[in-house]
Amino acid sequence: MQIITSPAKMQAEAERLRAAGKRIALVPTMGYLHEGHLSLLRAGRSDGDTLVLSIFVNPLQFGENEDFSVYPRDPERDLELARDCGADIVFMPSEAELYPEGFRTYVEVEGLTDTLCGRSRPGHFRGVTTVVCKLFNIVKPHLALFGKKDFQQLAVISCMAADLDMGIEIKGMPIVREMDGVAMSSRNVYLDLEERRQARSLVESIQLARAMYKEGEKQAGVLLDRVRTRIAMETSARIDYARICHKDTLRDMDLVTEDSVLLLAVIIGKVRLIDNHQLSMELKI
Ligand code: PAJ
Repeated sequence: MQIITSPAKMQAEAERLRAAGKRIALVPTMGYLHEGHLSLLRAGRSDGDTLVLSIFVNPLQFGENEDFSVYPRDPERDLELARDCGADIVFMPSEAELYPEGFRTYVEVEGLTDTLCGRSRPGHFRGVTTVVCKLFNIVKPHLALFGKKDFQQLAVISCMAADLDMGIEIKGMPIVREMDGVAMSSRNVYLDLEERRQARSLVESIQLARAMYKEGEKQAGVLLDRVRTRIAMETSARIDYARICHKDTLRDMDLVTEDSVLLLAVIIGKVRLIDNHQLSMELKI
């Protein structure tokens, strides 16, 4: 496994691999890997000839009062896990190399980014699309894998890749959950024991809505009331948003169809958690 920190070296290696006819699969991450990340790596391993993992905690996508400086990091462990998953290259650039003095170019996807997480985290998706575009230009992948855990991020990146003719296949992968159903996240380490228990309210409220939908309830308002009531039972939980949206346009839907996704952002204590589920699909825990 090669560890590459220089963008120029990574680019040269990508050119060489492409010339040799290799299909490059990229899994972009901010590190502190968990099973969710590893599921992307395994899928990339089987779908590509060369598997590249990128690790970069991207300052551009964090708001001023967010957790950039304390975002959990463990590069040694990440490298071990990457090796176990069969990564060929780990690309770990420094902030100075990715954003040198004078950097002033940004990628912005309109419309999809001013709702849901974009509303509570202004500038977040601009930071995500800018860094992902840079990673695409450096690693030159044929395929890039993203988790549905960050459903809006996946929609925004798919739109960017299509709109800008990037010629990269964007693959969305299922949410990996803990034993009790809580979606895996690097930020779960911030939760204390009681908060971790309360975090179950996200997936449990999704399960309630899914059960009601299966029984025939199609009114989004009724399903969302149930979701909000369930989450409100937790003393440390505050809902940022609970919405039912079309999976491609992210527009609110009054009536639930096969294309409806229930999207949640809930602050438990000081930790903002997200989860989502397409209501027409089984929710396996
Ligand atoms: P990060 O939060 O490290 O996530 C990296 C990738 O792992 C994303 O595609 C995310 O959706 C996926 N992922 C996280 N938790 C998951 C889970 N429980 N199940 C399945 N997939 C999961 O997302 C980012 O980093 C950044 O915004 C990035 C795209 C790297 C740009 O900086």
